[in-house]
Amino acid sequence: MSIGPEELDYVRDLVFRRSAIVLEPAKQYLVESRLARLVLDEGCDTLDELVHRLQSEPPGDLHARVVEAMTTNETSFFRDLHPFEALREHVIPALVAQREATRSLFVWCAAASTGQEAYTIAMILREHFPALAAWSVRIVATDLSTEVLARARAGIYRQFEINRGLPEERLRAHFEPHGIDWRIRPELRAMVEFRQANLIDDWGAMPTPDLVFLRNVLIYFDVPTKRALLGRVHDLLARDGVLFLGGSETTSGLDDRFERIAQGKAVYYRRRDGC
Ligand SMILES: C[S@@+](CC[C@H](N)C(=O)[O-])C[C@H]1O[C@@H](n2cnc3c(N)ncnc32)[C@H](O)[C@@H]1O
Repeated sequence: MSIGPEELDYVRDLVFRRSAIVLEPAKQYLVESRLARLVLDEGCDTLDELVHRLQSEPPGDLHARVVEAMTTNETSFFRDLHPFEALREHVIPALVAQREATRSLFVWCAAASTGQEAYTIAMILREHFPALAAWSVRIVATDLSTEVLARARAGIYRQFEINRGLPEERLRAHFEPHGIDWRIRPELRAMVEFRQANLIDDWGAMPTPDLVFLRNVLIYFDVPTKRALLGRVHDLLARDGVLFLGGSETTSGLDDRFERIAQGKAVYYRRRDGC
């Protein structure tokens, strides 16, 4: 299903204004393949017809669905492994010592997609830090897309999603069978709150996070958006808090108020002293 040049420009502009995701003109094939299902669902004959409908209607649900369809939701449990090893071995133990007085911990998993990252964090806390059961621990996971958030809340995963990153032992500990799929056990599901938030909008009432996971989303944004977003995360993060980015993402050259910490094969960021 092909798209005309003006229609492509309309979609690129819509997606950029509503999500900051940059779709280069060369991504035409991506727009065509990602929107094909929506064309059928909406009873349109062509992609251009769908775009003309978007242009003629006031902004609403259809526009939001187009933007959601253009998000890339690739994720997995224990993705890249090393950040989660650093979390378990260094970052959480340090925070537990630092928060002994308040006995509270707030984790923000931004751009959480279908939930694997947030549930990975919950698994680590449950397996290795049982004392935290007596603390106030909140894991808030947000994403732009209502579709992925619904999947994340349900906590139901297919066998191939389990096979990507979860050994048998963890599967038994944290999941129960759900037909041919697997469902996160209620006690782990209860540890994570999922809510919709667009990273380029107001984030609503948000406590000061001790840990921010902002992984594999900056790659979709242009430099001014990355700068603005990292600046806001910097100002929100606890002074001794930690920021994790994706493996190909960095604060370097974008916000030098962050200090890069390399620990084994993992990299994470802290606010520099006094910033
Ligand atoms: C590739 S996934 C990353 C998932 C997870 N953080 C990981 O690293 O495995 C990127 C996610 O960012 C979300 N996203 C893209 N633009 C966004 C925006 N402006 N606000 C909030 N979420 C956004 C997408 O919906 C998608 O689920």
